[in-house]
Amino acid sequence: METVVSGIRPTGNLHLGNYFGAMKNFVKMQNDSHCFFFIADYHSLTTHPTPEDLHGNVKNVLVEYLAAGIDPEKATIYVQSDVPEIAELYLLLNMNAYLGELERVTSFKDKVRKQPENVNAGLLTYPTLMAADVIIHKAAKVPVGKDQEQNLEMMRTFARRFNRMYKVDYFPIPKAYNFGEALVKIPGLDGSGKMGKSEGNAILLADPAEVIRKKVMRAVTDSGPTEKNQEKPEPIQNLFTLMTVVSKPETVSFFDEAYNNCTIRYGDLKKQLAEDIIAFTTPFREKILSLSEDTAYLRKVTSEGAEVARESARKTIKEVREIIGFKAF
Ligand code: TRP
Repeated sequence: METVVSGIRPTGNLHLGNYFGAMKNFVKMQNDSHCFFFIADYHSLTTHPTPEDLHGNVKNVLVEYLAAGIDPEKATIYVQSDVPEIAELYLLLNMNAYLGELERVTSFKDKVRKQPENVNAGLLTYPTLMAADVIIHKAAKVPVGKDQEQNLEMMRTFARRFNRMYKVDYFPIPKAYNFGEALVKIPGLDGSGKMGKSEGNAILLADPAEVIRKKVMRAVTDSGPTEKNQEKPEPIQNLFTLMTVVSKPETVSFFDEAYNNCTIRYGDLKKQLAEDIIAFTTPFREKILSLSEDTAYLRKVTSEGAEVARESARKTIKEVREIIGFKAF
């Protein structure tokens, strides 16, 4: 069975865009690969969270991913900092990671521009930590979005470099697993672009009903169609796209017809859309709330996950130490 690794940043809440995007694929992948999903809390230290925020963010992500369908019986879910072997591999890989190549990474350059007051070594070496995350399990595949392609290329470079340096064929070279066409792109509520792209355009799985109603009622529309069967401008098409994922087909065609003969009332469409979104998200919200209270379960999931991940990581570190030449007297 193929080994897959993916890290999840402990920031932000899951929204409908995440759910119909990466989440659905994670949930599918856990059935036919050995998936390691981890919460990247070491990585998150580059932004210097307070201890309370750090723990709160990790818990949040853990709870939401479990609620959305990551199944600890099928996948290994763990917290990165519970597996200190990753930090050791990171140190070892850093010895062969060069300033020039690390400085050329686009996301690093962006950070330098945006936060010149906090250009720390953790940011610079983010790609080596990411490489350690994946090759510690000798993974074949990494399911990531387009924004992570350069980090993935670096990861491949570091794995190849290790193999070449020690003349071994030890680390598999991980491949990007691109969901590509399989992804349903969920638009945001602010008239253009994807959900999650900007603040306030996203519906969270954890949003209460009243919040969803407010967000949907505020969504951008226009003054309505003036000609029969005219093409829908982006903000309107976006609402219809959302409707196709949460509403019954009859509902979509009802409003589609109303649009086409210019009798549509956006207020009615929004009301219906809001109720259908609420019906869809309510079970997730309830699960999120109950999991948040269930500390014993969260402790069980993370400690069992860490045990499996550490077993895999310990084996790699032991072999890597031998390859490098660390020897006991
Ligand atoms: N960098 C990824 C992100 O920002 C998170 C991440 C950390 C990751 N380590 C990883 C993803 C290893 C895949 C594999 O989303």
